[in-house]
Amino acid sequence: MFVSEALKINSQGHLEIGGCDCVELAKEYGTPLYVMDEGLIRKNCRTYKNAMDNYYNGNGLVLFASKAFCTMAICRIAQQEGLGLDVVSGGELYTAIKAGFPMDRVYFHGNNKTLDEINMGIDNNIRRFVVDNREELDRINDIAAQKGKVVNISFRIKPGIDAHTHDFIQTGQIDSKFGVALENGEAFEIVKYAASLKNVKVIGVHCHIGSQIFDLAPFELAAKVMIEFISKLKNELGIEIDELNLGGGFGIKYINEHDPIEYDHYIESVSKVVKSLCEDRKIKLPFIVMEPGRSIVASAGITLYTIGAVKDIKNVRKYVSVDGGMTDNPRYALYQSPYDAVIANRPDAVRCDTVTIAGKCCESGDLLIKDITMPEMKSGDILAVLATGAYNYSMSSNYNRIPRPPVILVKDGTARVIVKRETYEDIIRNDIMPEDL
Ligand code: LLP
Repeated sequence: MFVSEALKINSQGHLEIGGCDCVELAKEYGTPLYVMDEGLIRKNCRTYKNAMDNYYNGNGLVLFASKAFCTMAICRIAQQEGLGLDVVSGGELYTAIKAGFPMDRVYFHGNNKTLDEINMGIDNNIRRFVVDNREELDRINDIAAQKGKVVNISFRIKPGIDAHTHDFIQTGQIDSKFGVALENGEAFEIVKYAASLKNVKVIGVHCHIGSQIFDLAPFELAAKVMIEFISKLKNELGIEIDELNLGGGFGIKYINEHDPIEYDHYIESVSKVVKSLCEDRKIKLPFIVMEPGRSIVASAGITLYTIGAVKDIKNVRKYVSVDGGMTDNPRYALYQSPYDAVIANRPDAVRCDTVTIAGKCCESGDLLIKDITMPEMKSGDILAVLATGAYNYSMSSNYNRIPRPPVILVKDGTARVIVKRETYEDIIRNDIMPEDL
């Protein structure tokens, strides 16, 4: 009935997540409120880890792409479930460090890592820098030399596959700020150059072909293209690549029309392609890395809001406003992303009314869901927007000086706060009033 298996209707007739009544949660913690189901997060982690064990003899590592939802608690969960971590900034790395995450399972991504970030990664002995460009390569090599270290790196490659169109295409992806391209020889040249440097060691190659993808085929093709590249590096340069990182991007169910593939199928099908091609090209099987973000946390999360104004503009549109909006979920404003929602205090009420759920920001584009069929809604109802666990909290802002909601983790009927609600004091924390003003 719901887009996420984390949800059900309890004996009170209320929406329930992780054994907790959403109406009670809203009462106790206030709204807006992010709620994350710990059990489902752990289950998703295990699905990926087991797939790597079953289909590729455990010769790989699944990373949680922390950009999807980065807090200290989620780092701990990923650690306990045996996952590694993909970080893309000093802030994400700092969160992992503070959570006590093992640094030998951390991969540092990003197309423009700063000197500070490179220093931080090297000083903390992270497992891998995923190098994006020539300037960064030189910087890492120089800084490693100053520190008397040799740093293990892989390269972000543009494999020329765009999986964002429904019938994915294999061309054109050269126009991207990320990585080095295969098709113009840039990728080959940078690996060759890196092999001549003393303070970096080339371990792997990486690609990431997009996000919210529902097909296996683009991943299989990416694996094929990357193995061909590994084979070329071996044959033409004598460079052996130990690790193949195929990124993340596995689609999830936001609305009923979405039909995602079981997550373990990605690792299953990619493993097959890699095994058969490696045998054929006579190259050793690489260690495989995958980096799911969204598919680990999205369906585990919901956001609870209280409904305020209901504005029925006859023959135009009915706006139902909530006490949050683009500040806690900017994904409709940014990408027109679809979401489903239910009324937490009567989730099985008949859907009979087309409404647009709007936020409270001073911005016409501040909508959460446009034209959704919902039951009759009134001020004071608790609205749950579903599948908000990925790229919501992590992309939230303080626009209009709105404090960020807290995040609570629910499991077996208990709730734990993992991020506190921001206060107005937090909002002005970094403001300085010059004395002479
Ligand atoms: N690895 C790399 C190198 C990536 O760039 C990403 C996502 C991932 C892994 C994880 O992808 P996932 O499994 O989560 O799809 N803010 C956008 C999504 C941006 C994704 C950026 N990179 C959104 O809200 O849809």
